Amino acid sequence: MSIKTITEEDIKTLETLAAKYPVRRSALLPMLHYVQSIQGMVSPAGIQVCARVLDLTPAEVAAVATFYTMFKRFPMGKHHIGVCTNTLCALLGGDELWKQLTDILGIGHDETTADGLFTLERIECQAACTVAPVVTVNWEFMDSMNPKAVRELIEKLKMGAPVQSTRGVQITSIAESGKVLAGINDGKYAESPLADDSMLAGLRVAKERKMSAPTGKGAK
Ligand code: FES
Repeated sequence: MSIKTITEEDIKTLETLAAKYPVRRSALLPMLHYVQSIQGMVSPAGIQVCARVLDLTPAEVAAVATFYTMFKRFPMGKHHIGVCTNTLCALLGGDELWKQLTDILGIGHDETTADGLFTLERIECQAACTVAPVVTVNWEFMDSMNPKAVRELIEKLKMGAPVQSTRGVQITSIAESGKVLAGINDGKYAESPLADDSMLAGLRVAKERKMSAPTGKGAK
């Protein structure tokens, strides 16, 4: 798989991202997401470009790019499939979904299918335990998944059929999602609710019972 070169136009976009922050180096994570959306990975050349734009050393950029697991140093497939296997998801079927996906796709953690369609990753808790077990496609949520839904999801993605996150967002590709993660507005923000009823249940009960957090030392 050939890795796309970062163009002058891309460098202008990286400059724009850097200019959004009072301290330019704060833009490094969005910039790495952008580089990954262009290249399908964060390549050594991508690291060099980010370092140049931010006036950092490549080692400083590489330290960040290699710390966060969302940044890949191998070419990703069109779709990134994440399976949460942390405690709650695992107990509610996440481990089985992981096994099912490794069987269907024939790949393991951080591997990409030969047709370049899917990269599979065992992911950590997505703070969506109320709708466990959770699968993500290009970091969009597929809540309360089960083996039948997973099978249908992969079939649709293979056919290129339209797929929506269970929260309403249209699934595109990890490249498009990467641009959103970089902070580039795709105009679809309103497609997905921020929280559903189950996520707000604890807050509702706390309000009904007039509960509040204990005041800590130094609180005003
Ligand atoms: S354990 Fe899977 S979302 Fe929290």
